[in-house]
Amino acid sequence: MENDRVIAVANQKGGVGKTTTVIQLASGLAKRGAGRVLMIDGDPQGNLSLFFGSDGKRDFGELLAVLRNERRVALPEFVRRNVRRNLDLIPAGNRDLRHEQSDADIVATYDVFTAFVRSLKERYSYIIIDSSPSHSPLERLLIRSSDAVIVPLEFQLFSVSGLESIIDEVRACSEGTGRDIRVHSLVFTKAENKLNRVKSYREIFSAFHLPVYEVCKSEYITRSLEKSRTIWECGPASYAARDYREILAKGFPVAP
Ligand SMILES: Nc1ncnc2c1ncn2[C@@H]1O[C@H](COP(=O)(O)OP(=O)(O)OP(=O)(O)O)[C@@H](O)[C@H]1O
Ligand SMILES: [Mg+2]
Repeated sequence: MENDRVIAVANQKGGVGKTTTVIQLASGLAKRGAGRVLMIDGDPQGNLSLFFGSDGKRDFGELLAVLRNERRVALPEFVRRNVRRNLDLIPAGNRDLRHEQSDADIVATYDVFTAFVRSLKERYSYIIIDSSPSHSPLERLLIRSSDAVIVPLEFQLFSVSGLESIIDEVRACSEGTGRDIRVHSLVFTKAENKLNRVKSYREIFSAFHLPVYEVCKSEYITRSLEKSRTIWECGPASYAARDYREILAKGFPVAP
């Protein structure tokens, strides 16, 4: 687990809390002060980038094109430094990547992008990658570059088949790269204890034998996104902050 330093947050289902989870975990890791943290906005919707505001840096889509064509990039052109203390971001513009780059283009970028991300491990303690809600070569590119994948999801029966499909995807990426890429954990966002069904869901999902976390449904998360303030800034004493803190403590242990 100590080697899980490049984390992709992925689920092909939309609106399950991927971007929220990237924001809170990455900013939480940066707050520790044990090295710098980089976020990569791998979702062309650019929600993560919107949260942190824009400053005209070149975006993730351009980064892929430059890597593919020139094999190397001038990193400062793409990295927004210090969106928070110790926290950097490679932003995505709100653009339709699919119109600009074909699936074959993305596939042709797999290896050079992985090499790029892995070279960044020298500079960053953690790299946290947001992804778009789709099974696509783009999602695969992001997972292939990672050490482990966090899967946010909701307590619904439909989530089971979605989860099986993302586990298959992670396995395919691992086989494709010849590197061990694992599912880091499942994060149930918007968890509501009062639902009677939750107990049976907990049982169903325990069959996957993966670490499971729950983040309660919280007004503070809604507020966090509306105000572009992390949970540590707008509700450090909230239950949602407690829940994300638990993921940080158990899922990202500090080296002794
Ligand atoms: N713990 C929570 N409590 C309340 N609302 C939440 C919580 N987590 C996420 N949400 C809400 O769920 C919605 C979707 O969250 P988010 O944008 O993070 O999902 P996503 O998986 O990144 O979506 P997309 O697939 O479109 O990229 C947001 O409106 C957010 O406020
Ligand atoms: Mg998102």
